[in-house]
Amino acid sequence: MRVRVCCPAKVNLHLEVHGRRPDGYHELRTLMATVGLWDTLEIRPASPGVLDLTIEPVEALPPEGENLVVRAARLLLRRFALKAGASINLHKSIPVGAGLGGGSSDAAGALVALSRFWGLPAGIDELAPLAATLGSDVPFFLHGGACWAVGRGVDLIPAPDLPSWWLVLDPGSEMMATTQVYDRLGSAPLGEVPPKRPLASWLDAAGDEWLSRCCNDLYTAAVAVSPDVAKRLDALRATAPLLAQLSGSGGTVFGVFPDEGSARRARVRLSGEELTVVPLLGRAASRPWPALLEE
Ligand code: C5P
Repeated sequence: MRVRVCCPAKVNLHLEVHGRRPDGYHELRTLMATVGLWDTLEIRPASPGVLDLTIEPVEALPPEGENLVVRAARLLLRRFALKAGASINLHKSIPVGAGLGGGSSDAAGALVALSRFWGLPAGIDELAPLAATLGSDVPFFLHGGACWAVGRGVDLIPAPDLPSWWLVLDPGSEMMATTQVYDRLGSAPLGEVPPKRPLASWLDAAGDEWLSRCCNDLYTAAVAVSPDVAKRLDALRATAPLLAQLSGSGGTVFGVFPDEGSARRARVRLSGEELTVVPLLGRAASRPWPALLEE
């Protein structure tokens, strides 16, 4: 028996930072949305106690530390006091260290797929606290679609599906360390934190008018770490997208276009091998649905 799950990337369409919290994290108001660029996890049986992970292609290996997928597996085993094993293959298409949430999405996919594989009674409510201990972006990927993430980023307000826009993603060629970018913000203390309530109606603005309010407060810090971000964003702006933005702490910049044709035409005008054209995903298409495959 095998279980396979597809793990989408995300972009941050909007990201406000409101100072550093007492726990050391920054207080966020961010609109995250899943996009059609996927990693794939496949899980096969292994002897109890064995957690074995292979990553393809090998150059997609994160630089240091235990992979979030293995940490997700260990958390589940501990939470459910289980002695089981799994042999996990992770096929990566989402660039690593690019602000696209690939590692976080893999971790969320692993929680859902391993729960299925091991027959655990774990729904989204049981998995969300485990996801939050793995990283600030991980709980978002249990929901998929578009969500507001507030506080540290683990407090989620699901948003309705966005229009069927297409994006050009330019991940750049440098890996960006999230911590390095956040550290550049300095330690401005937590100011007056805006209420969450207006977020629910933010997207109600007529048509796509709300796009003109979108910004990313990490932009200046990201450019200080990698000036190339500004150059790539300027190039995207010149293709007249609905919105051109930095995703998360970078280095991916993206342009939003009304349809696939206009996104592909913009892609042709831009240089760089790493650029991809992807659709925004609705919630149903992007939640991690593990598929059970018989050998
Ligand atoms: O939660 P996660 O481990 O993914 O966060 C990675 C780093 O990003 C943190 O160590 C911190 O430097 C920064 N971060 C932050 N405030 C947040 C989320 C992340 O400062 N709300």
